[in-house]
Amino acid sequence: MSEKLIVKLGERSYPIYLENSYDDFTHGFSGLGSLSSRAVIITDTNVYEHQYPDFETALKNHSFKAEVFVVEAGEESKNLQNLQRIYKFFMENELDRTSVVIALGGGVVGDLAGYAAATYLRGISFVQVPTTLLSQADSSVGGKVGVDFEGAKNLIGAFYQPKFVYINVNSLRTLPSRELRSGLAETLKHGLIKDPDFLTYINDNMDKLFNYDEEVLKNIAYSNCSIKASVVEQDEKEDDIRATLNLGHTIGHALESVSNFALSHGECVSLGITGAFKLARKLGMISGDYEAAVAGILKNAGLPVSISGMDAEVVYQQMYLDKKVRRGRLNFILPTAPGQVVRREVSDRELVMEILHELFQNQKQAV
Ligand code: GLY
Repeated sequence: MSEKLIVKLGERSYPIYLENSYDDFTHGFSGLGSLSSRAVIITDTNVYEHQYPDFETALKNHSFKAEVFVVEAGEESKNLQNLQRIYKFFMENELDRTSVVIALGGGVVGDLAGYAAATYLRGISFVQVPTTLLSQADSSVGGKVGVDFEGAKNLIGAFYQPKFVYINVNSLRTLPSRELRSGLAETLKHGLIKDPDFLTYINDNMDKLFNYDEEVLKNIAYSNCSIKASVVEQDEKEDDIRATLNLGHTIGHALESVSNFALSHGECVSLGITGAFKLARKLGMISGDYEAAVAGILKNAGLPVSISGMDAEVVYQQMYLDKKVRRGRLNFILPTAPGQVVRREVSDRELVMEILHELFQNQKQAV
């Protein structure tokens, strides 16, 4: 194993391995005690085509046997129907409490497989093998698992930590560039909430990143995971500081649902971050220069800072269906300075609508 980080959560602590192949994956199980040889891999149609052959070879080289369940690629797969199919597959394969579920894929696969593992037999072990930048940066670490319901994202779910996370940075090589950019939004978010130097590093190394420079990919994965881990260690169940990871997500999740997932998660987060910075500037919390600099970095990453064809009223209503709504008020994570954010309840409808109209009508800035 080349490099590892530990997410420190007492008896639920686990390592994150940062690798450049799948070769050492099975070593992750050493020291985990009495896991049986029964294992199920959950993956999606894209990952099955592009990553599974290498992963399977690594498993075979270590005589590790596993059954595979493949879902359609895409957010639409994160639903209760697929969950039911997965439970049936677990029954057919006689999984028991010593079995393990391996999530090989992006956030959809990790969330779905993780929730299946969290609920089957009141919880069986699972491991995350994230294959997208989005999941390597964010969703595979921290134990949020779940499915979408009635158009609302992640409405049904749990906090359920994996036994380990295994990141092969070279899995990003088969990722469409739109997906790489999508993951960049969460990566930039980490810089914005906690580490201005990391933000600068990403902005300065954008070309190398898009050329899959292994050192840059590993540095980015390391910073992403250490920032995410440090936040989760302080507040596993999102009572407080973990909510800062939701920068850009109040507007972002609503856009994702209203666009029926035609916009990627990262595109929506980018628009949501832009909205949060506009809001913070209008509330006098940051300067116009800081807002403009961040918009410039998002654009440099090929991410949108405005979009046409959205109905502000529909998006506003959708924002109220989010888990982040408390006491009927919208919650925003807003910047106060480079690397610093705060949570604010905002009840000024006119102000929020003004922001949405700016995001949706300012065609000149559209990317
Ligand atoms: N994706 C935000 C979190 O894990 O809390």
